[in-house]
Amino acid sequence: MKIDAILSPAELAALAKRDLRDATCVVFDVLRATSTFVTALHHGAKAIVPVSEIAEALALRQKQPDVLLGGERDGVRIRATQTGGIDFDLGNSPREYTPEKVRGKMIVSTTTNGTRALRACTGAQTVLAASFLNLTATAQFIRQLQPAQIVLVCAGTRENIATEDVLAAGALCELLANEPVAQNLKVGRAVPCPPPDEASVPVQQQSHGAHGVARPTLSASVETARNAWRKAKSNLLEVVSESENARRLLAIPELRDDVAFCLRPDVYNLIAALGRDGVIRILI
Ligand code: MLT
Repeated sequence: MKIDAILSPAELAALAKRDLRDATCVVFDVLRATSTFVTALHHGAKAIVPVSEIAEALALRQKQPDVLLGGERDGVRIRATQTGGIDFDLGNSPREYTPEKVRGKMIVSTTTNGTRALRACTGAQTVLAASFLNLTATAQFIRQLQPAQIVLVCAGTRENIATEDVLAAGALCELLANEPVAQNLKVGRAVPCPPPDEASVPVQQQSHGAHGVARPTLSASVETARNAWRKAKSNLLEVVSESENARRLLAIPELRDDVAFCLRPDVYNLIAALGRDGVIRILI
């Protein structure tokens, strides 16, 4: 299993041209699109349709009047001045997507980076929307799936790298790289292999865990994300609070609590997958 990472939104165009037929793409937009999508699904939303443009969202609402419109531009809810008529029903704060608002609902969402990153993966065999909120569930699913290649896709902020996405990618990689799955174990939660004491084991043996199970091959960008995670994991909120989008959200009183909300680990035991029909639903 090979693991690669797209750290910058500038690489999305090239990703869309790559042969991803045997790949699982894992998309991270920690602040806030993918965090919002898994929260909405956890609170009972039927599905989410990520679209790139406001016009696409309005056209879908035209066809299906009962869908909810959600998303942001410059971090805040999309208003009538931007749509030429109606305010969107929701912004992109995960705290707005309560069970009362979203249960049983289809949501059409357009955001600046997250929905664009998801759409860039449409050629892949499997596309997952991930966040810190459902990280371990995502790792467990991938270990069972054992795809030939994994591409960790960081959505970024505007055209820039987003620290929080790189850290989430690094955290997932740490989970996948440290715990190769013993292939023949098919019961319940996979039993992790204890990591070998890397200093003492010659390199070629390092590619196999204690059970002789192959360890994933990591690209340089994945190693970068993993090292960044190792450095930041003990003071995650402090580190992320310095990022471009975190600073923007922290400066908006009604949105500042979104930063800490999106950094909580493993509060949802769900897998969110983008289907071939372009719709995100709970997979497990
Ligand atoms: C994005 O997609 O660019 C982000 O989710 C924006 C945000 O929610 O602030």
